Amino acid sequence: MYSLRQSIVIYRCQNCDFLAKEESEIPRVWLSSGTQLAVDNVPDRLQYCQGAFMPRAPWREPTPAESALLWTDEPPPHYAGVGIVRLPADVLALLADAAIASLTTPLQVAEFKSQEKCAQILDRLIDYFQPFCLSDAPPVISGMGGRQPGLSTATIDNKRGCRNGLHTDSWDNLSLDRKHEATNRICVNLGRDSRYFLFVNLTEMDIFEMLGYSDSPIGKLWTRQLTSEFMQRYPEYPVVKLRIAPGEAYIAPTENMIHDASTADMKHLDVKVMMRGYYRIPV
Ligand SMILES: [Fe+2]
Repeated sequence: MYSLRQSIVIYRCQNCDFLAKEESEIPRVWLSSGTQLAVDNVPDRLQYCQGAFMPRAPWREPTPAESALLWTDEPPPHYAGVGIVRLPADVLALLADAAIASLTTPLQVAEFKSQEKCAQILDRLIDYFQPFCLSDAPPVISGMGGRQPGLSTATIDNKRGCRNGLHTDSWDNLSLDRKHEATNRICVNLGRDSRYFLFVNLTEMDIFEMLGYSDSPIGKLWTRQLTSEFMQRYPEYPVVKLRIAPGEAYIAPTENMIHDASTADMKHLDVKVMMRGYYRIPV
């Protein structure tokens, strides 16, 4: 087993506190046994891209020492921290009134997106996250969708027509030495079940250094190459699985970390809204 390093940390924003009872009963975090080449033998599912990686089972809860490395009591910087945010009561009431959690197919989600009540919810989400936006530009919804349950990793590479597996985003097209300047992402869970954010708790620069590339140029794009080499060289390094409950969101630097979403432990449709921008992790 390769020991967990301390780098990207998780912060639970203060407004999650009223879920204390649930927190004591349902774990927040699990660690995988490492990673492996991705396979999905279920018929009629979109297959993995060639050379894709997924977390390797079994999963386990972190030891106290590992939890101490993973969690922080202070809001971390936006480029190296994952924040868990609970939506306020009035937004949760809007979601309940619209019965979003009862949508059962991606097509129903697509139809819902054309309705006025959906526009109201998205406007309210933008209002709520506006104070956390570090740039002058207001938050922008970058996607809303529904994904089937049961997928070890869920992201699809639309250009290649296959599932990415664990990956680093590259919407900003930044070189390695500028990854800390990249946008981060908010992803809100509008579904009925907890959903799961998978990530390696290392920045892209950590991985670059672990691969011994310190003398190589860092002013170029490394995204897929770094991910692939890391999985091959450190197959026992654990992947973190973070539970995001219904009505919660995560804020994460997905351009600067290996990650994906998982719907493997879900029973109902995974309904989510995403925003890309520069968001600080709120206290
Ligand atoms: Fe991604």
